[in-house]
Amino acid sequence: MKGLIPQHFIDELLARVDIVEVVDRRVPLKKTGQNYTARCPFHDEKTPSFSVNPDKQFYYCFGCGAGGNAIGFLMEYERLEFPQAIDTLATVAGLEVPRERVENPEKASKRKDLHSLMAQAAEHYQQQLKHHQDSRRAKDYLIKRGLTGEIAKAFQVGFAPPGWDNLLQELGSDEQSRQLLIDAGMLISGDNKLYDRFRDRIMFPILDNRGQVVAFGGRVLGDDKPKYLNSPETEIFHKGRELYGLYQARKAVRNLERLIIVEGYMDVVALAQHGIPYAVATLGTATSEDHLRKVFRYCPEVVFCFDGDEAGRKAARRAMETVLPVMEDGRQARFLFMPDGEDPDTQIRAIGTSRFEQQILNAKPLEDYFFEAVSEGANADSLEGKARISKRAAPLIQLLPAGVYRELMMDALSRRTGLSASALHNILQNNPPADPPPPEPRATNAAPPPKNVAPAPLPSSKRDTLLYMISLLLLHPSAAPALQDESLPELDSPYLTTLKSILALLEKRPESSTAMMLGHWQGQAEGEVLTLALSLEKPNYDGEKAASALQECLQHLRQRQHQRELSSTVDKLRNANYADLSEGDKQKLKELLSRKASPD
Ligand code: CTP
Ligand code: MN
Repeated sequence: MKGLIPQHFIDELLARVDIVEVVDRRVPLKKTGQNYTARCPFHDEKTPSFSVNPDKQFYYCFGCGAGGNAIGFLMEYERLEFPQAIDTLATVAGLEVPRERVENPEKASKRKDLHSLMAQAAEHYQQQLKHHQDSRRAKDYLIKRGLTGEIAKAFQVGFAPPGWDNLLQELGSDEQSRQLLIDAGMLISGDNKLYDRFRDRIMFPILDNRGQVVAFGGRVLGDDKPKYLNSPETEIFHKGRELYGLYQARKAVRNLERLIIVEGYMDVVALAQHGIPYAVATLGTATSEDHLRKVFRYCPEVVFCFDGDEAGRKAARRAMETVLPVMEDGRQARFLFMPDGEDPDTQIRAIGTSRFEQQILNAKPLEDYFFEAVSEGANADSLEGKARISKRAAPLIQLLPAGVYRELMMDALSRRTGLSASALHNILQNNPPADPPPPEPRATNAAPPPKNVAPAPLPSSKRDTLLYMISLLLLHPSAAPALQDESLPELDSPYLTTLKSILALLEKRPESSTAMMLGHWQGQAEGEVLTLALSLEKPNYDGEKAASALQECLQHLRQRQHQRELSSTVDKLRNANYADLSEGDKQKLKELLSRKASPD
């Protein structure tokens, strides 16, 4: 069995090969200024919007938003998997690809210990559900939720009784086992004391592909907060990869025709109890591309199940954009919306199995949902509406892998808008940015934005400050220390996590280059954000200028957050008398006013 390719080799390879050569051998390039350009190989176009940057060793297409390093280019262009792309490049560079042993024996034995510990914990919790003096409450709760003993057993549902150290006493008899419990995320250490993470909760073990317990989700019996508590990431548990119920579904159905993705643990269990044993749930996160690739390994169809409320509609839109890149020919995705206020658990109890199953079969196909979503708020009968729909739809369709399905979607778009295929390609190339550029580049003498920047094909492709900061870091990793000791404002932005991940990576590996960073998150959400960041204008900075631009952006974010806080407090205070204010509000007002006087 082949082992893993060590990261240092990938870095070395990227340093050795020249992306200009790699691309040029496949797509002849022309030198234009600093960069090289060509007509993009990933979408049809008449004028070149594909460019390769020899300095930073990346490529980017302003027309379709494709971008990445030399490895990514080969993967896209020759449709190779990662290891094959590495092999190809290594051959050209005259290097031999070293392989790490799949796992060193020490690590493997640690993982084995963790697995066996988690199995013991699951067994313990199940015993507590049966025999603990307090277990009546837990059983009553499960009965109230309509769960049978049989289904609870099938999902190994258990009970963590109240108390700080039940598990600690049971499984942590010596130093070594206590350490293992900590590493497994089952114990928390605070104030020099160890205590159980899960207390007075219904326990749902989370199983990996092989049916081994790798984590737990724990639900309170009442209305306390947080309602669910999940295991932290550990050596054997990566939240973004696992799906609750997948192992049980694969066991229950020999040839899975489809899997349903629901939101909650209880939904999975309730559906299984009612004869729909092929539902899975993410672990409190949005569905990722990784999740979907996994699902499609086991069946050709996925049905997303959402609540009928605004949050559900938003999640659906996001899921639609996530599923597009994995829609190889032959795969199907559908969307099912619960009535407002219901989730699959309550819904199947209300309408019964056969009607629920009927709804699954009638769930909206991706293509229908897609056109509904992109037509929202646009009048499909007016010319202006048609133009809007095309502008929204065309870049999303480009996210689909090349194939019959993509062609059909393009045809459908033509039909619906009455625009020819070539008119649509034009739209793709000349789509102006959806949002004005961020204020910072102007403040720092940046060049005007390039004319034909298409909105990159990503959800909410806002050209905002955080994204601009990401692009600065990506192109000037040496500027990272400008942010590393600063606290970032907690903004509600999808880019914040990526920014933090980059900073963490650069802290650990300050020598990372642009190309290395582009490779580091290949195929993950962060990778998509990086590609999107490449679409921003790139002022001609050196590391030092980039550092001061980053500082400026940070100040800008802080001021904006401060203003937002100020105006929401002022709104709140507008209708109140100062005398009636709570002490907390008064304090806040004082603080805000003094900060306003001297913004730092
Ligand atoms: N979740 C979480 N942490 C929370 C709340 C929710 O991890 N504090 C995750 C859990 O995986 C949960 C899912 O999000 O199953 C859906 O949450 P929600 O819709 O609030 O709950 P339900 O699954 O409907 O839970 P229940 O029916 O038990 O109230
Ligand atoms: Mn529920």
